[in-house]
Amino acid sequence: MAEEKNWVLMVTAQTPTNIAVIKYWGKRDEVRILPINDSISVTLDPDHLCTLTTVAVSPSFDRDRMWLNGKEISLSGSRYQNCLREIRSRGDDVEDEVKGIKIGKKDWEKLHLHIASYNNFPTAAGLASSAAGFACLVFALAKLMNVNEDPSQLSAIARQGSGSACRSLFGGFVKWNMGKKEDGNDSVAVQLADEKHWDDLVIIVAVVSSREKETSSTSGMRESVETSLLLQHRAKDVVPIRILQMEEAIKNRDFTSFAKLTCADSNQFHAVCMDTSPPIFYMNDTSHRIISLVEKWNRSAGTPEIAYTFDAGPNAVLIAKSRKVAVELMQGLLYCFPPKADTDMKSYVLGDTSIVKEAGLEGREVPQEIKDKIGCQDQKGEVSYFICSRPGKGPVVLQDQTQALLHPQTGLPK
Ligand code: DP6
Repeated sequence: MAEEKNWVLMVTAQTPTNIAVIKYWGKRDEVRILPINDSISVTLDPDHLCTLTTVAVSPSFDRDRMWLNGKEISLSGSRYQNCLREIRSRGDDVEDEVKGIKIGKKDWEKLHLHIASYNNFPTAAGLASSAAGFACLVFALAKLMNVNEDPSQLSAIARQGSGSACRSLFGGFVKWNMGKKEDGNDSVAVQLADEKHWDDLVIIVAVVSSREKETSSTSGMRESVETSLLLQHRAKDVVPIRILQMEEAIKNRDFTSFAKLTCADSNQFHAVCMDTSPPIFYMNDTSHRIISLVEKWNRSAGTPEIAYTFDAGPNAVLIAKSRKVAVELMQGLLYCFPPKADTDMKSYVLGDTSIVKEAGLEGREVPQEIKDKIGCQDQKGEVSYFICSRPGKGPVVLQDQTQALLHPQTGLPK
């Protein structure tokens, strides 16, 4: 290690979030976070939804510390501890000649870390922020510590932070193999296809207004494992077949199968929640209205043009077959769920706003044909805002030092 005590070495990375189209729900090992079935997800474009994390190491740090969205949080939880231990044990020699820093393999166990993480989307929105968060933590630390492992191996570490995080180590379409081994080494994510493979897809997230406090995924799935017979049937007989069909649908860009499987799997996941004792309700009336809207749309189109999926909350993730469908859908959604009088369009539709421009602002000039397709009345205020996105790339290191969340000299939040 360099003799000088005041150097700070850091790395900043950006990692996407992901949305499961075949859901992970239920663990066979709570500590290692090993699932009872395989799952498949689509990675969302990090330009619209991502986590940014800066990790720093310095001999002047006296303990590991972390700040999330500017607020210091505790790292004492076992999930953080497991990720930190696993990644530290894989650290390798690092040398920065310019700064005169030399860190040996063994030093990682002794050196302390500062971590700052920030989501580019509102955390309170109930979008899977822990997935992007743990994936980004593991990815950034792997780069800092010169860990020589491929993204699948890193996914097995991120998995121990939060199950769904393992799928955020890749862009495009990703499968999490449940694995068979007791130590979980084969419970890793693999990429099925990159984001360019099927780039016609447009993803619209409707962040649904909700006052209720939700059951966390972690405790919800524990209760389902303990009480739901439907979950046993799902994991044993339903998901294995759906996984094969979904892999095929993605490979062939077969939207009809993709949409049918996505909607059916979301519905079965929520049926499992309902089958849990006591029952868990993640969706609300607005979520149900959005399902009806999509079902009606697809019926009138004569073929699925839109898929919906809901995680452990009321927010809808809609996947449109093409940009043309997405533009029409946005018109319909803005007609059905207009912003409140005091909300402007800029803060109502986030992400890829070019879709709103094409759709024609305010949704006032919505063609009758689309109104008929969508078949719903003005539900002002039910949706907090929309985020337009698309399938996106996996984690990247940001070279631009100005984007770092920690100060290059002090290693403290900027
Ligand atoms: C409904 O990954 O948040 O989003 O492993 O306990 O941290 P833990 O749970 P988490 O569960 C995600 C559940 C889901 C489905 C999915 O993403 O596959």
